[in-house]
Amino acid sequence: MKAAVLNAFGETLKIETLPDPTPGAGSVAIDVAAAGVTAYAANVFNGSRNYRLELPAVPGPGGIGRVRSVGPDATRLQPGDWVFCEPTIRARDEASNQILQGWTYRTDAALPLHRLYRNGSYAEQMMVPTENVTRIGEIDPKDAGRWCGLSRLLVPYGGLWAGDLKASETLLVSGATGGFGGAGVAVALAMGAGQVVATGRNAQTLDDLAVRFGPRVVPVPMTGDEAADRGAIAKAAGGPIDMVLDFLPREASLGQVHANLMAVRHGGRIILMGGVRAELGLDYNWLMHGEITMRGVWMYPPQAVPRMVQMVRSGLIDLGQFDLAEFPLDEANAAVAYAAANAGPRQLTVIRPDKG
Ligand SMILES: NC(=O)c1ccc[n+]([C@@H]2O[C@H](COP(=O)([O-])OP(=O)(O)OC[C@H]3O[C@@H](n4cnc5c(N)ncnc54)[C@H](OP(=O)(O)O)[C@@H]3O)[C@@H](O)[C@H]2O)c1
Repeated sequence: MKAAVLNAFGETLKIETLPDPTPGAGSVAIDVAAAGVTAYAANVFNGSRNYRLELPAVPGPGGIGRVRSVGPDATRLQPGDWVFCEPTIRARDEASNQILQGWTYRTDAALPLHRLYRNGSYAEQMMVPTENVTRIGEIDPKDAGRWCGLSRLLVPYGGLWAGDLKASETLLVSGATGGFGGAGVAVALAMGAGQVVATGRNAQTLDDLAVRFGPRVVPVPMTGDEAADRGAIAKAAGGPIDMVLDFLPREASLGQVHANLMAVRHGGRIILMGGVRAELGLDYNWLMHGEITMRGVWMYPPQAVPRMVQMVRSGLIDLGQFDLAEFPLDEANAAVAYAAANAGPRQLTVIRPDKG
């Protein structure tokens, strides 16, 4: 099979011929149709993100494809099924040892898993643990790229799931102008949020969100002045904020983080999903007297996947919301560069290994 291989950090992806994967018990071989490319993939490949990833590897965290063959223990999956392949793999003997297939491993304890599944979806075929493969029903092959939107939507869904967002609640999404934050706005609305306060520095992207998703979205441009930003959020929300979903990246300042987190109401919930590396420095007394629940969330539970498929199938989520840019596998490096130059809630960059 043909695959895009990263041989060393800082090198471009090389298109190489590798042996076809052969699934044993507990795994499935997939003919990959489409695989998403994140805005920060370039930084993973150039090494600046310092991701734990043993090389050489075929990158690519999950995607959409058809089952090619199944291991002897599969009970439902059939060759030809259209499926979503979920990249978060949890060790069967210790669920906290996790990797993202084709992307990174979290701790050394997860290395055996990474060594088995470090090759991901930027290839014509990949091997995936059986439990990471979810049937999505019949689709038109030309829509496979659009269905990669599931990967984008599922991440914030994991946070909203963990925070138990309820219909009619007010949610604040910080980093709403980014890929995952913007998806968080869409998912929260689909879950019945009464109001979504969307914050970010890019006023134009915020306005675009409000135009696309309607009056339940309240855009609040951030200036970087913490006090002013807190005031603007309070004024725009016009009432208590039940939950904050934070997707600020590692470049964000603590002032940016605080302005958003501290907007939460007494008894509210804060879900941290962004890339900030700093000590949070939140006031003990504010947390305690405010009876705030704060929780970090990485990715999403496996049960979220079929639910998200249903949200799409039922029309609650429109995959048409994405501006799709598709690249054949041979142009994987162009896809990575395009994704880096076109970050944002609308953009969805996809590699199509089924298109050569
Ligand atoms: N927890 C998880 O499971 C999980 C999963 C995937 C990704 N993540 C993390 O989520 C974060 C967001 O990812 P993404 O793909 O949505 O990123 P992205 O598309 O680059 O969006 C990040 C947003 O942050 C905003 N931002 C605020 N302050 C910034 C600053 N000082 N420098 C640069 N941007 C700034 C930018 O919007 P403005 O310019 O409008 O402010 C940008 O739109 C990443 O850090 C990633 O590691 C977490």
